[in-house]
Amino acid sequence: MKEIDWANLSFGYMKTDYNVRCYYRDGKWGELELCSEETLNIHMAATCLHYGQEAFEGLKAYRGKDGKIRIFRPDANAERLQSTCRGILMPELPTEKFCEAMKMVVKANERFIPPYESGAALYIRPLLIGTGAQVGVHPASEYMFVVFVTPVGPYFKGGFATNPYVIIRQFDRAAPLGTGTYKVGGNYAASLRANKMAHDAGYASEFYLDAKEKKYIDECGAANFFGIKDNTYITPLSTSILPSITNRSLMQLAEDMGLKVERRPIPEEELSTFEEAGACGTAAVISPIQRIDDLENNKSYVISKDGKPGPISEKLYNKLRAIQYGDEPDVHNWVMVLD
Ligand code: PLP
Ligand code: COI
Repeated sequence: MKEIDWANLSFGYMKTDYNVRCYYRDGKWGELELCSEETLNIHMAATCLHYGQEAFEGLKAYRGKDGKIRIFRPDANAERLQSTCRGILMPELPTEKFCEAMKMVVKANERFIPPYESGAALYIRPLLIGTGAQVGVHPASEYMFVVFVTPVGPYFKGGFATNPYVIIRQFDRAAPLGTGTYKVGGNYAASLRANKMAHDAGYASEFYLDAKEKKYIDECGAANFFGIKDNTYITPLSTSILPSITNRSLMQLAEDMGLKVERRPIPEEELSTFEEAGACGTAAVISPIQRIDDLENNKSYVISKDGKPGPISEKLYNKLRAIQYGDEPDVHNWVMVLD
């Protein structure tokens, strides 16, 4: 194998040795299978190709200083996938089977888990797709669950460094009562133009307001938003954002640190009052926000005056990473340690 430059990995696909697959046929899930083939052979009328019966997840495995391998909150991802399955009428994969698949795929690709010192991780990408043929708009009767892994570095430029974001009003990623709370591919298709606009203009990512009123903060591209002021961690309550497991973990850590935690609609204007803010997610971890520009209204909400991450964001980031890598006790029982 060609030497991997662990410290300079980007967030991209690298071929690994194995993926894990599981098929749903005749009303039940089969056994997990280890596979070394990268491609899928599916029917051209599969519902995932036409009607978007596709769900995915994203989580990470970490190699600790102690050499142990840890997967962060796989049960939470299993539950979110089940919620997505209910949302687009796909059969739910039981939590136990999901976690077993995570273990199996990580162990089989152990040589791709970045070393502790690199600060990189193994990204795990489960997907569940409708493979049964349909021409009418109906759910499939057959499904396939696949999990692959790939070693990754930071999603946003510089890792834990501040970045600028831009409010995009021309496109919505999800409708108020649409599929925003589910991790379905369609939401990401809907985000591609906004994301390109933001990147072309030199921003790290697009920033969404609520689709109905364009008044409240929704999400930060493929990450949740949080703001900090007056010793309070504030994150949006919205029917169109993905319930981030990272955000949920940060809310708990913030509370543990003695911060107040608020989940409520956040009007755009409130951006001017935050002492710190960040985008958070599995890929992003915490990506501190330097400023958020609202080009149509000629406004720029500068969050970090000196361009550096704020102290509370840094404390949260260090605490979360310490739990993920096994440097600090896992008091909330979040981590699955592989044996
Ligand atoms: N929001 C969106 C739209 C995402 O794609 C993600 C990534 O999974 C997140 C938020 C963050 O969620 P999590 O922390 O569970 O990775
Ligand atoms: C994640 O944070 O896991 C994501 O899914 C973000 C993006 C790569 C879709």
